[in-house]
Amino acid sequence: MEKTFMMIKPDGVKRGLIGEIVKRLEVKGFTFSALKLSLISKEIAQKHYEEHLGKPFYKDLIEYITSGPVLLMVIQGHNAVLEARKMIGATNPNDAMPGTIRGDYAWEMSQNVVHGADSAQSALREINLYFERHELI
Ligand code: CMP
Repeated sequence: MEKTFMMIKPDGVKRGLIGEIVKRLEVKGFTFSALKLSLISKEIAQKHYEEHLGKPFYKDLIEYITSGPVLLMVIQGHNAVLEARKMIGATNPNDAMPGTIRGDYAWEMSQNVVHGADSAQSALREINLYFERHELI
């Protein structure tokens, strides 16, 4: 069993997609280790996205991700990082295949509904950034 980190971003929460996305994950067979609705602070957002510091979209990304509630999730399953990435689809929704979350629900790179950790190392880092140990089942 591998754990990975996923987030439903402010646009996904605002559009009422929590149920739809959580259902997809459950039907696929992921189990939940943690689920939390949260408003992310600027400080945490900057830590999460530090690899993008200096890029042209960085400021907008931080503003957007802190603009409203997000659903933070730790999900688990066999090859969870890779399987969750496949379900999420390409970062740019224009490249995301139908059947993927971004392919079905997103139009813009800057508001692409969900985030998923891109490696086991990122998953661990992001889980530790958003969750206390006692919150993980
Ligand atoms: P995410 O998977 O959360 O990781 C970083 C985010 O930055 C990414 O999804 C996009 O929402 C955003 N992003 C990446 N590249 C660009 C870009 N060229 N223009 C705007 N936003 C971007």
